[in-house]
Amino acid sequence: MTDFRQHTRLQFPIFASDTLVYLDSASTTQKPQTVIDAISRYYTSENANVHRGAYDLAVKATEIYEGTREKIRKFIHATSTREIIFTKGTTDGINLVATSFVKPKLLPGDNVVISALEHHANLIPWQMLCQKQAAELRIIPLTREGEFDLSLIPNLLDNRTRFLALTHISNTLGTRNPLEKIIPLAREKNIPVLIDGAQSIAHQPVDMQALDCDFFVCSGHKMYGPTGIGILFGKETHLEAMDPYQFGGEMIRSVSFSETTWNTLPWKFEAGTPNIAGAAGLGAAIDFLENIGMENIRRQEEKLLHYATEQLAGVEGLQIVGQAAEKSGIISFTWKNVHPHDIATILNESGVAIRAGHHCTQPLMQLLGLPGTARVSLGVYNTTADIDLLIEALERVRGVFG
Ligand code: ALA
Repeated sequence: MTDFRQHTRLQFPIFASDTLVYLDSASTTQKPQTVIDAISRYYTSENANVHRGAYDLAVKATEIYEGTREKIRKFIHATSTREIIFTKGTTDGINLVATSFVKPKLLPGDNVVISALEHHANLIPWQMLCQKQAAELRIIPLTREGEFDLSLIPNLLDNRTRFLALTHISNTLGTRNPLEKIIPLAREKNIPVLIDGAQSIAHQPVDMQALDCDFFVCSGHKMYGPTGIGILFGKETHLEAMDPYQFGGEMIRSVSFSETTWNTLPWKFEAGTPNIAGAAGLGAAIDFLENIGMENIRRQEEKLLHYATEQLAGVEGLQIVGQAAEKSGIISFTWKNVHPHDIATILNESGVAIRAGHHCTQPLMQLLGLPGTARVSLGVYNTTADIDLLIEALERVRGVFG
């Protein structure tokens, strides 16, 4: 495991100084040199707008942009690039679906179902929509371990349920939801499903054919790519039937003072000059992930998760929050009465970067009765040495707080 990880780590310039113990990849991943180079190359020698130019540079920029769309299609096994929309990120994708797909269908008395694990990004858009349309927001509850009780889900889905929106992996507890069991429950009742894949896309194979969800969203910056670009997958029939989310250049076929018609998919949903440099970086990020192999990444991260869980569980007084049987590389914990922000601050003095707080899941924290947690999250570059340094640094927290 260590050789694999050390080799991978060498591809990330931020680790060159070897003083950073980065355990916050659920917030954002670090970037390999190839991603940085792709962005730099675009601005240095490939910069032009897309879909417009009659000159070589514009053709090249368009090839880069559309080339990444095709890489994404292959990466997630979508049927067609018409199903791949570039967004600003996960949040943007969810808002697009809430506005253009669900809002026109949601009537007073209808309901939308989400879960108690959702990040604010997959909660607030639905809460706002339900309030506005006098619809009900239903919440799938959690067991003590931080999993869904699957037997409760069929009762929450009824003939007034217009949508189900669920996270693939909890950003706070690391729970990996059994979508292969949940999506068919929605299918049986003809309920469209959105999956928030922000925490899964870079950590395991993701296959639109196997999942059979209607929409899937994720962010470039959590998959070793740049910030400000994300992916929305949508089934073509849905995207065809939906109105555009934003209006402007790029997304039109013809415009007059009295009428406008829309561009074909996927461009109908890409108003304005897109994030071309972001697409260049994201394409390189997908190459990076494919070179390692997603099965390989999942296996390696599971081993490291196992090691980290064992080491943390051995720290006297430390409580791991979220004990799902199926977890990804995210571990939340509390330690006696020490505030999570104090834990993170002291760890920072040892060069260990973790996130502390509510992790954009305040309702989950309310359920757990906690002000927040300290959270360790893993990426491809982490090694057992990082975990050992974390445990050493935690001993310093004990030194300060006794
Ligand atoms: N959603 C990101 C996290 O969990 C920011 O840290």
